[in-house]
Amino acid sequence: MSEKSLCALPPMGWNSWNTFTDKINETLILETADAMKKEGLLDAGYEYIVIDDCWSEKQRDENGRLVADLEKFPNGIKFLSDALHEKGFKFGMYSCCGTRTCADYPGSFEHEFEDARQFAEWGVDYLKYDNCFKPQHMQDETLYRRMHLALCASGRDIVFSACQWGTENVHEWIRTTGAHLFRSTIDINDSWNSIKEIALSQLDKQIYSGPGCHNDMDMLVVGMNGRGGNEYISAGGCTEDEYMTHFALWALMRSPLMIGCDVRKMSDAAKKILLNRSLIAINQDPDCCAPFTVNCTTNGPESIVIVRFLTNGDIALGLFNMGDVPAQVAVDFFDLGLPYRSGCELELFDCIHEKPYGTRREMLNETVGAHACRLYRCKLKQI
Ligand code: GLA
Repeated sequence: MSEKSLCALPPMGWNSWNTFTDKINETLILETADAMKKEGLLDAGYEYIVIDDCWSEKQRDENGRLVADLEKFPNGIKFLSDALHEKGFKFGMYSCCGTRTCADYPGSFEHEFEDARQFAEWGVDYLKYDNCFKPQHMQDETLYRRMHLALCASGRDIVFSACQWGTENVHEWIRTTGAHLFRSTIDINDSWNSIKEIALSQLDKQIYSGPGCHNDMDMLVVGMNGRGGNEYISAGGCTEDEYMTHFALWALMRSPLMIGCDVRKMSDAAKKILLNRSLIAINQDPDCCAPFTVNCTTNGPESIVIVRFLTNGDIALGLFNMGDVPAQVAVDFFDLGLPYRSGCELELFDCIHEKPYGTRREMLNETVGAHACRLYRCKLKQI
């Protein structure tokens, strides 16, 4: 292990599942890497390329080893891993803590240590570890601890992404397993309802996420526009406002930012969201403070204010309208810890449109469109 934490900040990258499910192959992955470079995604911090489920043969070989599907990956996994490293990326793979993966390929149960060694030999930097087909007598904690130790014994630094879906109160024990991320919800799909449900379900769990172990609210659906790898994921798609709100929520709530769309065919609107530097900076803030919510008596039930303290005393202030009609969303600075007699005001920077937004004292009160948001980075100023 290196002296620095392997995964101090939420990882950023791309994952094959949302758009491609089992239709993955070497060409797709390499084209994706090239597109991510060309579009500036790698430079913006999206450094992991993760192959999800369905990469292997349906059975292990006669020595019990996982083997790549040679039709999908004709040159093998090490070749792909080297090629991605050569292009400047980190390489992620997928397995499962049960006997089979969710799509019914071999899982790592009772093969944890040899699989981890195999991943290390292939040059894997990140392992997503799913939660299907678990033997009934095994507790989740034990299964995730096993793979943590297996990865530690593998001789390679590998980010451990526990895909646990938020059952068994995972947030209460996951930090004991050594996992760097924990999936905290069911699978996302490309719809506003899914985004809203996931975000709301995690608002009260923010304090469990911190440096080195992050609440993973699942891959981004930004830019998918209804083109998912299966019917469940497709789900009709979202409007540009909804995708922006999704990205702003994931950024502010410190979720990993794993792109799930086809980056070779991104719309300009999707690029603009995914490359929003102000939102990425909030997601990657080095201080890793947990966000908190504040309520204002004038706000309706679908108006949510999320605040996060950032490095150098900056404050991220997110006003979200989760409802279906425009709403006033207000925040009283008293509730942030900033009473009037502090003699301070806030200088606002509008992170969605990336431009200054003036100064405010005491409160902020904005009209926010349906399913839309405002997100400001505020500087504390002594008047
Ligand atoms: C589960 C996970 C998804 C994806 C699929 C693959 O549903 O939660 O993110 O990895 O399995 O089968």
